[in-house]
Amino acid sequence: MLENLEVLPPDPLLGLMAAFAQDPNPQKIDLGVGIYQDNTGQTPVMGAVLEAEARLLASEGSKRYLPPAGDPAFTSGMLALVLGEGAAGQFGERVRVVQTPGGCGALRIGAEVIARSRPGARVWVSDPTWPNHVPLLGGAGLQLQTYPYYDFAHHRLDFDAMFAALGEATAGDVVLLHGCCHNPSGADLSLQQWQVLTELCEQKGFTPMVDVAYQGLGQGLEADAAGWRWMAERVPEILIASSCSKNFGLYRERTGALLAVARDGRAAQAVHSQALSAARQIYSMPPSHGALAAGMILQDADLGDTWRHELAQMRERIASVRRGVAQSLGSDFQFIVREAGMFSFLGIRAEQVKRLREEFGIYMAESTRINLAGLNDGNLEYFCTAMNTVLNE
Ligand code: LMR
Repeated sequence: MLENLEVLPPDPLLGLMAAFAQDPNPQKIDLGVGIYQDNTGQTPVMGAVLEAEARLLASEGSKRYLPPAGDPAFTSGMLALVLGEGAAGQFGERVRVVQTPGGCGALRIGAEVIARSRPGARVWVSDPTWPNHVPLLGGAGLQLQTYPYYDFAHHRLDFDAMFAALGEATAGDVVLLHGCCHNPSGADLSLQQWQVLTELCEQKGFTPMVDVAYQGLGQGLEADAAGWRWMAERVPEILIASSCSKNFGLYRERTGALLAVARDGRAAQAVHSQALSAARQIYSMPPSHGALAAGMILQDADLGDTWRHELAQMRERIASVRRGVAQSLGSDFQFIVREAGMFSFLGIRAEQVKRLREEFGIYMAESTRINLAGLNDGNLEYFCTAMNTVLNE
């Protein structure tokens, strides 16, 4: 039987990561997969995480399963982080949180819950969106449809086109929004645009689903959350997939949460039970280590302060790289300063992407998405020189 399977190519982003690892060029630069790197090109474990891990090691006496919905300290901490300090009281029995294996797990469990309520439901995703949204949501049997989002010609969000397209969304549809630091474009909705979309959602009755993979890496933990919190406070129901991969640096620990706000307590309980049943079918129990560490940080004032400080440094470093790139590349690249989070499209041609990789060892997605965090004081000049070379020859 197994010999009938075809061999698939690697996932494009993961394939890029593997190609980079094999490149012997000492000046190579990895601008591919969305992993934060510091000014020395390293991705160290955050200090708050190291401290939480040390405490865990000293105190964790068992590896028994976590409860199916996850570690209560983690899920209550995530509720406060994502929906605000007062969220538990504000939403009451309408809100439920389930710990998931990463933000991907949250997206998939959210998609499974939607499919159980409405098999084959239509999900609107931004054009472009993170490529893995397609298999994660489509694999649960949902039908994907795109709405225009990024205007490549002018390097900006095309909100008018987005709004017009979503005017076609109806009750029973899901609209997937990126909470902040849009992946791959870096072009975010303003608070006012979130407010307009909230009104549209109320009029049309679609269900918003928000992918929150980069909270704290755009404008700040609270500022990044303003848009989806505005929406969650007003619409009858919303799903939020939250990831701790980037803002806690817990990539390999697969730490995330699905938050669901439903119309009433009964509906929230139903969502919760369906999410747990879907998880049981797929992976049974959530992984523990990352969630215990993140939960400890979210519940401990000192660890929380350390973490917020480290996260602010990461955010400020990315913002300063954005300013440095825009300054060195000149007027055609000022949009990079206006965008947020790890990613922006360079908007260069395919053969220029190829030249950067083959001649200079600079790796980026074929879409021209770059991870700005791959640049630092030691390689920014090399990158800009290479860019100017391929742009001007
Ligand atoms: C990315 O977009 O590079 C990250 O979200 C990592 C991934 O899994 O693709």
